[in-house]
Amino acid sequence: MKDIVIIGSGGFAKEVSFLIDDINKVQKQWNLLGYIDNKIGEYNGRYQIVKNDKWLENTQEKISAVFGIGDPGLIKKLSEKFIQNPNIDFPNLIHPGIIGDFERISFGKGNIVCAGNILTTDIQIGSFNIFNLNCTIGHDTVIGSYNIFNPTANISGGILIGEKNLVGTGAQILQYLKITSNVIIGAGSVVTKDIIESGVYVGIPAKKIK
Ligand SMILES: CC(C)(COP(=O)(O)OP(=O)(O)OC[C@H]1O[C@@H](n2cnc3c(N)ncnc32)[C@H](O)[C@@H]1OP(=O)(O)O)[C@@H](O)C(=O)NCCC(=O)NCCS
Repeated sequence: MKDIVIIGSGGFAKEVSFLIDDINKVQKQWNLLGYIDNKIGEYNGRYQIVKNDKWLENTQEKISAVFGIGDPGLIKKLSEKFIQNPNIDFPNLIHPGIIGDFERISFGKGNIVCAGNILTTDIQIGSFNIFNLNCTIGHDTVIGSYNIFNPTANISGGILIGEKNLVGTGAQILQYLKITSNVIIGAGSVVTKDIIESGVYVGIPAKKIK
């Protein structure tokens, strides 16, 4: 068993603790120490904040870490800091029930794939992405890094996605579209055209509002 910590201690961090517990039910892999945040000793669900950022940045212990944060920009900033410490490893945490053609799906590091996701085939995924519950990712899709897909987002086939995007819950992106970086797609929106400018897009069809 390897020691692991969750960076952050909010609602999504608690869901990541549930994901780790679920992985351990199938095969005991992780010794979850708790969360990394400032208020050491505070509990969230079963686990407590055990150490702060400064400790993680400088630790000499070999440790695995995973992000439990729902903000793409913050994940990028913190991962660039923590990756400097060679003692920290960022595994891909993939729920054991996920359906996917794993021989033809590539993952970087630090990705989280929660329960209920379906990824089909010939898919490339960068690093530090979060696939929350029940998303679908279609064939020949290429996803950069630091993207967050909230529950039940549907990413069709042949899509290219940049970095630091947030796809709201229940949003749909239609096939063969390109989504640049730093884009927020509102909950329930349907993207029907390429998004080439960063900003906030909502509605059916999704239009830029900010
Ligand atoms: C798109 C989003 C980020 C906009 O948030 P915001 O910047 O705070 O914007 P506001 O709430 O001020 O909304 C601005 C306008 O867009 C509309 N709007 C917001 N979200 C919308 C959505 N998903 N679909 C359609 N219209 C939406 C608002 O009604 C408002 O319209 P108005 O100006 O006519 O009153 C947010 O509404 C959203 O959908 N976030 C995703 C949430 C999510 O996935 N949650 C799951 C967590 S696990």
